[in-house]
Amino acid sequence: MKTTLTVIKADTGSVGGHNRPSNAMINRAEEVVQTGIKNGLLSDGRVTFTGDDIALLLVHTRGVDNLDIHKFAWDTFVETTKIAKSQGLYGAGQDLLKDAFSGNVRGMGPGSAEVEIEERPAEPFIVFAGDKCGPGVFNYPLFECFASPYHNAGLLLAPDMNAGFTFNIMNVNYTEGDKVICLKVPQDYYDICTLLRDPNRYVIENVVENASGLTAAVASTSRLHNIAGKYVGKDDPVAIVRTQKQFPSTGEILSPWALAHYTLGDNRGSHHVAVMPVKQNTIISYFDGPTIISAAGYCVHEGKLTEAVDFFDQPFWDYVREKASKKTLEMRAQGFYGPSMAGMDELEYTGVTENLKRLDNKFVVREKK
Ligand code: F6R
Ligand code: MG
Ligand code: MG
Repeated sequence: MKTTLTVIKADTGSVGGHNRPSNAMINRAEEVVQTGIKNGLLSDGRVTFTGDDIALLLVHTRGVDNLDIHKFAWDTFVETTKIAKSQGLYGAGQDLLKDAFSGNVRGMGPGSAEVEIEERPAEPFIVFAGDKCGPGVFNYPLFECFASPYHNAGLLLAPDMNAGFTFNIMNVNYTEGDKVICLKVPQDYYDICTLLRDPNRYVIENVVENASGLTAAVASTSRLHNIAGKYVGKDDPVAIVRTQKQFPSTGEILSPWALAHYTLGDNRGSHHVAVMPVKQNTIISYFDGPTIISAAGYCVHEGKLTEAVDFFDQPFWDYVREKASKKTLEMRAQGFYGPSMAGMDELEYTGVTENLKRLDNKFVVREKK
């Protein structure tokens, strides 16, 4: 029997601003997940938070895009929204953009990443969850760990990976449907780089191993802006990455995160800051940020999860966090000039555009002498 790993996350309200869900919300989500396990819908499940987002890791046998599982996640977030409203929390129900559930959480606000697998005898995987960033935050680390021998020594050393990986990449600004392209490394390396250099438009949807045909990674691709037609919070994506044996090792997958790469997100979703790898259940603070990513490692066996290993809760990452703070402060020192703030097409609030219209009327074109 195949096992499905589903991660669905949403911001349904938070304490103190856009900072973290309340304990009561987390407790309610945990109760609902336990009920799902008792009822047999789920074989296992976990509830975590990253900044103001609650992530549900649901294990089951119903495959991806399953109506019952998606409805379960939606209903759980309706429950946490009720708690948030009853406590007067900020942004209650923020990511539930539609009034009624209609079959699949995709296109309704919550982010989701799912993979159906034939469990290997040992099945280690990592769940990444981000806050104050868009789905393009995964472009750099996913491409590097699957395509670059700088991070993935296995590409040179392990025969299984020698044939490379296939990247399915989505144009997330196309709103009529899913517009995707399928490209492989090594042969399409430069074409993939050409797309991934623009993480606000082109986003990795999944990664498949060429030799085995097995899915190695899946990531959420939704852009709330495109669903709602206006800014309603950053997308705050999730990803599942399978590790070891025929896939990159856990350490190879974590390796690119040591860069603390710059991404668009942070305060008002409109600033470039360095991504900080953080421990599970970390809050948002400085300048409504910085952009944070958590990484939880599990093994799943016959549908049951082990405890989580909190990969960024290790002394090495203290140094990376310090580096990320320094990089963010360097960029923040430039305020709103140039690359510090998003370009016109990615500004998430409308103030600049409105003011530019007003100012444009005051511009005069000088007569030529
Ligand atoms: C970014 C984010 C925050 C808010 C900011 C203003 O994703 O959630 O930075 O954009 O706190 O929030 P509002 O407009 O809700 O007052
Ligand atoms: Mg929020
Ligand atoms: Mg969030």
